Amino acid sequence: MAVEIEQFICRTDNFGVLVHDPVSGQTAIIDAPEEAPILAAIKRTGWAPTLILTTHHHADHVEANLALKERFKLRIVGPEAEKAKIPGIDETVKQGSVVRLGEERIDVIETPGHTAGHVSYHLPASKVAFTADTLFALGCGRLFECKPPVMYESLKKLAALPAQTVIYCGHEYTLANARFAVTVDPGNPALKQRAARIEALRADNKPTLPTTIGEELSTNPFLRWHDPTIRKHLGMEKASDAEVFAEIRKRKDNF
Ligand SMILES: [Fe+2]
Repeated sequence: MAVEIEQFICRTDNFGVLVHDPVSGQTAIIDAPEEAPILAAIKRTGWAPTLILTTHHHADHVEANLALKERFKLRIVGPEAEKAKIPGIDETVKQGSVVRLGEERIDVIETPGHTAGHVSYHLPASKVAFTADTLFALGCGRLFECKPPVMYESLKKLAALPAQTVIYCGHEYTLANARFAVTVDPGNPALKQRAARIEALRADNKPTLPTTIGEELSTNPFLRWHDPTIRKHLGMEKASDAEVFAEIRKRKDNF
């Protein structure tokens, strides 16, 4: 049986997520941006959390760690490379680590770029992945601690997940990402249609997440380094995939 998921906004544009295994009754929290909305989600669902899965050390992803640990006596899992910066961490993970949520297997994928130790969590049986600030809907995270080729390799790993994989991200940044994406890939009809859908959803204050790997592959310029039309538009027909990615990231930083 697939996991059940509750997604909600924390702070201003962070997503909080609860992941519930209906077989064992266990629940994981993906990052802990803010205590009150997480407590409200726990109350709404009736799912008692046993675990926090931390993706990276930024304050807007770990701020409620200690308060939630104190309240629920839960276990905090996070990347080995950032353990010194993650409050209350009990268990560290790296590429290939497996975490269990009841019967559900959670694979750890190292996805450095936004931070040097960022990890994503993939649930192959439920076909869901939590990519936090590595892969966004129509975007990718800013490169605070790594050079572009590092993020390119991380995104390549996520792009290789099955197309139907449902993706939950760390932030509701999709509208700004869409407005940028159409400047890089103006001839893509799937992107144009998606951008219009996103404008409408945000006008209604509705979330644009989750997405899927398949949808990102066809519309997210940060996964479309190989696309001949984008390369031509950038004047980079002969560049490497990593160079095309770096140029798109640079343009977004200055957008
Ligand atoms: Fe972050």
